[in-house]
Amino acid sequence: MFEVTRHEEMAQGSIIRLDLIAPQIAAKAKPGQFVIIRANEFGERIPLTIADSDPYSGIITIIFQIVGKSTALLRAFKAGDYIKDVAGPLGRPVEVDKVGTAVVVGGGTGIAILHHVTKAVKEAGNSIIGILGARSKDYIIMEDEMRLLCDEMVITTDDGSYGIQGFVTAPLQEYLDERFDIKLVYAIGPIIMMKNVCNLTRKYNIKTMVSLNPIMVDGTGMCGGCRVSVGGKTSFCCCDGPDFDGHAVDFDELEKRNNMYLKKEKDALLFSIR
Ligand code: NAD
Ligand code: FES
Repeated sequence: MFEVTRHEEMAQGSIIRLDLIAPQIAAKAKPGQFVIIRANEFGERIPLTIADSDPYSGIITIIFQIVGKSTALLRAFKAGDYIKDVAGPLGRPVEVDKVGTAVVVGGGTGIAILHHVTKAVKEAGNSIIGILGARSKDYIIMEDEMRLLCDEMVITTDDGSYGIQGFVTAPLQEYLDERFDIKLVYAIGPIIMMKNVCNLTRKYNIKTMVSLNPIMVDGTGMCGGCRVSVGGKTSFCCCDGPDFDGHAVDFDELEKRNNMYLKKEKDALLFSIR
């Protein structure tokens, strides 16, 4: 059992932050890794990337969007409640070299994962330009935490309610046109965002890493549920990833596979709140 020590609602209650006491996971967790959670003994297994971890306090942070029945169930957990199972850390940690200047691009809920990854990019000694995008001001999360890690920061919103109006790809293109010191881009967010970031950086021949979130079941390489095509070969996101060279990822296939159960997830959510 894992005690919740903090429950915070962000983005008008559509994104939830939970801090959990998980000392064994916190002692080992590295940026980029994830956990698999079962809220209670009847709950399904949900993979959630670790947004932060502190080996000294033994606390890990998870941040998730409410998309189906299981994430809605997890939302009900408040400080003092106990989550049944948390397995991890799973997946390969982020591997970042000192390259000079890196751009980290986060879209919507993906910003939560980007935060932990940005810590690793910083620790490797890089100078960091952050570009955070969301549909409107209320959906920009972890801005203060990201500002602490980034040397420069640009915010975009789709509706122009904060920062520059438009998608994250517009300021990214400006940076790529003007700055020749950028050697790495890290993009985490919706599939269409990561795909468009990669299409852009490919033209500039700049290495681009993405964090993928396909459907997962066991999280240990046994079921094949999380398979993704990278460079024309099948990889398993849970044990070969979740980070991959974005220029080699087949995003169209990933999008199709991820959409397979969308209707079922929505129906299960509706049924559970009736
Ligand atoms: P969203 O749809 O509101 O988009 C967030 C930002 O992404 C936008 O503000 C924009 O800047 C950028 N974006 C969107 N469409 C784009 C396009 N066509 N071209 C360029 N940029 C574009 O995001 P949301 O609702 O918070 O995202 C939810 C999605 O993100 C879900 O599908 C979820 O599965 C996914 N997600 C992925 C990860 C991951 O590990 N990659 C993590 C969390 C969430
Ligand atoms: Fe089963 Fe990756 S989740 S193989």
